[in-house]
Amino acid sequence: MKSLFSSHIEQKKLGLKPAIHQELKRTILKLPEMDTLGVKWSKKNYPNGYTSYGSLSNLDQQFSVFSELKRLLDREASKFVKAIGIEFPRGDLVLSSLWANVMPKHCYHAFHLHPNSIVSGTYYVSVPKGTSPLRIEDPRAPLFMACPARSIQKDLIAKEGEIILFESWMKHEVPPHSSSDLRVSVSFNYDWIQS
Ligand SMILES: [Fe+2]
Repeated sequence: MKSLFSSHIEQKKLGLKPAIHQELKRTILKLPEMDTLGVKWSKKNYPNGYTSYGSLSNLDQQFSVFSELKRLLDREASKFVKAIGIEFPRGDLVLSSLWANVMPKHCYHAFHLHPNSIVSGTYYVSVPKGTSPLRIEDPRAPLFMACPARSIQKDLIAKEGEIILFESWMKHEVPPHSSSDLRVSVSFNYDWIQS
């Protein structure tokens, strides 16, 4: 039996130094105090939680503590595309956005994808016990048609300090967070910049 057109997901420890990880967490938890626009945006688009996606979406350029994170993510994103056989005839894979997410209890992020990017993913900063997973949908789901019912979702639970990487066309969601402790993460997109 052969397996063709497989989907690829990378989940691994990133290796960020513990002191930087902690500084990152402290910085993220302070963001809502200074990011009025982001708090306003989150009220509309990120029920009950805070994300800097609509306001501070290049945190690597705005806060130096994110630069080491970017360095390690660049390395992993590059390894990921090579491993799955994506080649760029010109230009390169470039980090286009990097933003923070803080989820209190009941906060969720419904199914979506990142249409302008090549690789997307998340670095997990704080993962309380019992937190909601990253839920991935089988990209073939709309094509099953007359096929008997089968599972089309897989749940991934990351540990603190890990990343999950996937191709940006992969539909994903975070179901409602059920812990009283905050779920904190940094998400990012890598685009093909055809210079
Ligand atoms: Fe996403």
